Amino acid sequence: SVNGDTRNQKTLVMIKPDGVSGGYTSSIKKIIQDHGFRIVEELATELDEDSAKSFYAEHASRSFFSDLVLYMTSYTWISIFLSCIFTSGPVVVMVLEKDNAIADWRALIGPTDAKKAKISHPHSIRAMCGKDGEKNCVHGSDSTQSATREISFFFNNSSSGFVARHDEL
Ligand code: PPS
Repeated sequence: SVNGDTRNQKTLVMIKPDGVSGGYTSSIKKIIQDHGFRIVEELATELDEDSAKSFYAEHASRSFFSDLVLYMTSYTWISIFLSCIFTSGPVVVMVLEKDNAIADWRALIGPTDAKKAKISHPHSIRAMCGKDGEKNCVHGSDSTQSATREISFFFNNSSSGFVARHDEL
């Protein structure tokens, strides 16, 4: 069915460059475990420009697309100077599983714009570690279709063409 069976549902979570460089990875993982999610896949990596464009392809026509891609691939200007190609600040990508994982994770992270989250959802993850609509610390799949696509993007390397370096966790 369209909504599908939400039992043992999987969702794709990403701790974005500002979350990783801000030192929030372990507190976010504690929240994940405290809320009954199982971490079934995990990798630390960096997105190159093509990977970021492909991951966010559905937003290609949005005005913020180039900003979003730049943020996901180079958190600080210094990283541009230090590398010949645009490499990213590291991200941590996880597949979480539990009943109703997609909606429950979206509820935990709060609204897209972290500035608004701090007011309307002060206990949310984005209120804790995000800054605004761009630097919002974490990603979560918004539907079963995007969860399927995003999980295979990172963890089913035959079809996605995702070729980023996998860092040591
Ligand atoms: S919106 O504004 O509610 O329509 O945004 P949304 O569709 O929820 O956002 C989709 C992803 O785009 C990111 N985003 C932005 N990036 C950079 N600059 C601006 N202004 C901006 N606005 C939204 C947003 O963080 C979403 O990323 P993910 O990783 O999917 O949460």
